[in-house]
Amino acid sequence: MKVKKAIIPAAGLGTRMLPATKSVPKEMLTIVDRPVIQYIVEEAIASGISEILMAISKGKKAIQDHFASDFPNAPYYEQKGKHEVLEKLRGLAGDCEITFVEQEELKGLGDAVYCGKEFAGNDPFAVLLGDAICQSATDRPVLGQLIDVFDQQQSSVVAVQEVPLEKVSRYGIMDGTLIDEGTYRVNQWVEKPSVKAAPSRLAIAARYVFTPEIFHCLENTTVGYGNEIQLTDAMHQLLETQESYAVKFQGTRFDVGNPLDFVKANLHFVSRHEEYGAGFKD
Ligand code: UTP
Repeated sequence: MKVKKAIIPAAGLGTRMLPATKSVPKEMLTIVDRPVIQYIVEEAIASGISEILMAISKGKKAIQDHFASDFPNAPYYEQKGKHEVLEKLRGLAGDCEITFVEQEELKGLGDAVYCGKEFAGNDPFAVLLGDAICQSATDRPVLGQLIDVFDQQQSSVVAVQEVPLEKVSRYGIMDGTLIDEGTYRVNQWVEKPSVKAAPSRLAIAARYVFTPEIFHCLENTTVGYGNEIQLTDAMHQLLETQESYAVKFQGTRFDVGNPLDFVKANLHFVSRHEEYGAGFKD
């Protein structure tokens, strides 16, 4: 089975980015010249995804508007004969079909993913967090690196990234067995362990590929840490019936949902930008 579908949970409150996110969704904040969500959709498309479902909440209609082929200024560009601009704006997602679902209550990441149950049907699907930009260090995008492992194993695959030992208690941490360069078979996920209890320094990192069995696990997941339905709890259950793999991806991840990483991402992308890089370095 091939991974052609992706769910992007983008319904979160964005509290850490207030007041910037009072009226603008954090996914619509700009990194150099494009909103965050555009980078994420581009990664999905470059990884071979052709259908995307975004889970959004009230007040995030701007995300929907961003990908709409019809938009308020279109007639002006048309009148002025600026067809190139029009084409560019209408083709922001290329041939990829993007649909939206409203997460009615913000019950956590697990619940946001569950909103995609019908969309996924019996197919495997990717999950890309809407507030994390992953920049690959190779020609293959980060999600693509996970899909390559899915193609071999036909089982769920989760991106992991090394974090400093003193920070393990902030993350879901992998306990796994190395089976190939950068690829692990997962024994268990340990949620927010103490430094002493941590089985590794490899933390779950914003990109996933799941078999549809994850929905069954989400149905059996009760409210957990932070009073939310935690995706990690469902991933833990999944291990009881199916193998899962983890990929220590080659690249960098920016959690652009917090101000410091948001600024770091801007500096990273502007310094490498074709048009603005040289001027910025100057
Ligand atoms: P976060 O916890 O990082 O996002 O969720 P948040 O809730 O917006 O963060 P703060 O604490 O208020 O700043 C990780 C991902 O899960 C999505 C978020 O949009 C983000 O992409 N999410 C989270 C949902 O879609 N729905 C939820 O109920 C919670």
